[in-house]
Amino acid sequence: MARPHIEPFCDRDVPFKKMTMKGFGSGMHYKMLSLDTDTGACSMTVQLDGGYRQPPGFSWSELELLVVEGELQLGNKTVGKGHYVFFPAGYAQPALASAKGCQLLMMYNTGEPSLVESDTHHPLCRTDRFHRTDSYNDIPWALGSITKPSTATGCMIKLLNFNDRTHALTFLYCMTPHYWQDNISYHDCAEESYHLWGDSWIMQFGTVPTGGYFWRPAYINHGAFASEQGCIALGRVDSKLFNHFHYNPWSTVDENQTRAAARIAERDPNLYQWMVSHAHNHPHGPEDFERTMARVGGAHEAAQPHPSQDFRHSHGGSDHEHGHGHTHDHQH
Ligand SMILES: [Fe+2]
Repeated sequence: MARPHIEPFCDRDVPFKKMTMKGFGSGMHYKMLSLDTDTGACSMTVQLDGGYRQPPGFSWSELELLVVEGELQLGNKTVGKGHYVFFPAGYAQPALASAKGCQLLMMYNTGEPSLVESDTHHPLCRTDRFHRTDSYNDIPWALGSITKPSTATGCMIKLLNFNDRTHALTFLYCMTPHYWQDNISYHDCAEESYHLWGDSWIMQFGTVPTGGYFWRPAYINHGAFASEQGCIALGRVDSKLFNHFHYNPWSTVDENQTRAAARIAERDPNLYQWMVSHAHNHPHGPEDFERTMARVGGAHEAAQPHPSQDFRHSHGGSDHEHGHGHTHDHQH
């Protein structure tokens, strides 16, 4: 079960909880914004108390971090508001500390929060994916045209991360004061947003204030939009972003999905036919670190097997099992 639809929600409405998971320092508090209860992947607002320290270590999950308020010491570097870091799974994060306390967004994308003390990277880590940037100062605002058709003018972005395999994106976006867009959108991907400052308004869900958050699964209508004062937000999509625009506020998720599939049928008819045929048609992705990580961690930590490690699946009653990543040629 992927993350459920969370909208509207504002983190100011719930208290911080104490982080007690192994590996993290005391003085770490969190508000859970969204959580995949199968994988443990989650997004959190995090408060580090003044004097917080944690040793160098890696996470079994990919981790994105954004400084929202205050200052954070990343190893011997002090970073502030707007600093963004992408840690691939297994990447040895430097010692983390905050002398006076700070507030962060932390997004564990592929598994539950974890920290294994280590000053070396895990051997399977894709270290080349690590990057960080002072997003407020070092990236200019660009037109929101990371996808076409695009949002109305007045919505701009700073691209922070791109996943070359899934086309997932992380970006800052802003809306100018008195921004508006009159059509309705839905996408083939889940969409997430945290309002760092300001307000925006969505016809179906009302006003999103500072601290406002949503995790919106695919094909859910959203828009028209407006922003009174303007806003700046952290946005993410979990796969390729395409704006399906329309003007029918009553269409359902199923109808939107069918309409999206009709586009595929028109554009890639043979691929579409194969996808909807009853043949053996599920794709086999390449082996990669994010997918092997849970098992590697499980072996080391003697943890329970993760539900996602159960590779059995059903084809109308004839269950079978196969190793992922291997080709096979059985028939149904
Ligand atoms: Fe959207």
